Amino acid sequence: MAWDPQAYATHAAFVPALGNAVFDLLAPAAGERILDLGCGDGVLTERLVAAEATVVGVDADPAMIAAAAAKGLDARVGDGRRLAFAGEFDAVFSNAALHWMGEPAPVVAGVFRALKPGGRFVGEFGGHGNIAAIRVAVRAVLTARGYRVPAIEDNYYPTAAEYRAALEAGGFVVDGCWLIPRPTPVASGMSAWLQTFRGGFIDAAGVPPEKRSQVIEDTRAMLRPILADAAGNWTADYVRLRFRALRPIAT
Ligand SMILES: C[S@@+](CC[C@H](N)C(=O)[O-])C[C@H]1O[C@@H](n2cnc3c(N)ncnc32)[C@H](O)[C@@H]1O
Repeated sequence: MAWDPQAYATHAAFVPALGNAVFDLLAPAAGERILDLGCGDGVLTERLVAAEATVVGVDADPAMIAAAAAKGLDARVGDGRRLAFAGEFDAVFSNAALHWMGEPAPVVAGVFRALKPGGRFVGEFGGHGNIAAIRVAVRAVLTARGYRVPAIEDNYYPTAAEYRAALEAGGFVVDGCWLIPRPTPVASGMSAWLQTFRGGFIDAAGVPPEKRSQVIEDTRAMLRPILADAAGNWTADYVRLRFRALRPIAT
């Protein structure tokens, strides 16, 4: 799906802001060369640079990369499923992006190749059960309105055991892999959230542009008794998968 950097900065600032734990797990050191995979508009990439690492940001979305480049970052358009780097990074970091890249094998293989032997792959993304209530509500509304709902969603939300197995199949030694429920306040409200994060899914179901906001408002109404409090504050049912893995030295 296409991303809108302005909408992302306005309605999704919580995404990089909640990246502290995975940032600390990475523990970037001065002078390290680090790849930020799915860097988006570069908010966390900037933090890596502030830690005095040499950072390359890669993202598939040209508009997000333009926003990152405007911050003065080394930001490059590229697909995480087809990384072409070879043995050059001390670490590959990724926040809130791997679930958008689908099936893990090509991503894991590209990251493994990109790392120096002994390098680390540290990230966090949507895990099993992520935003389950929201996904069910979107599907229910689309179905009720007669749109085609894909049987399988593009997003990849694995269990910890599944992702550990994917990392190990790609040659990594896994230090840790945790599934972490993270109820997340959504200050902009559910309509803006759906617009930002489920617009692509709604479009792919064949909803014409002029009907999009109706689908969003129906979904919001269905979720209101479940995810909003009495004062109308929304909390989304996020589940994160956080991990740290190493490319062994002897490879
Ligand atoms: C929710 S944003 C996260 C951005 C940033 N890491 C952050 O923490 O704010 C997800 C990003 O993943 C990128 N993305 C999705 N699929 C991708 C792919 N196949 N290769 C590279 N980037 C991808 C999107 O373009 C988007 O910028």
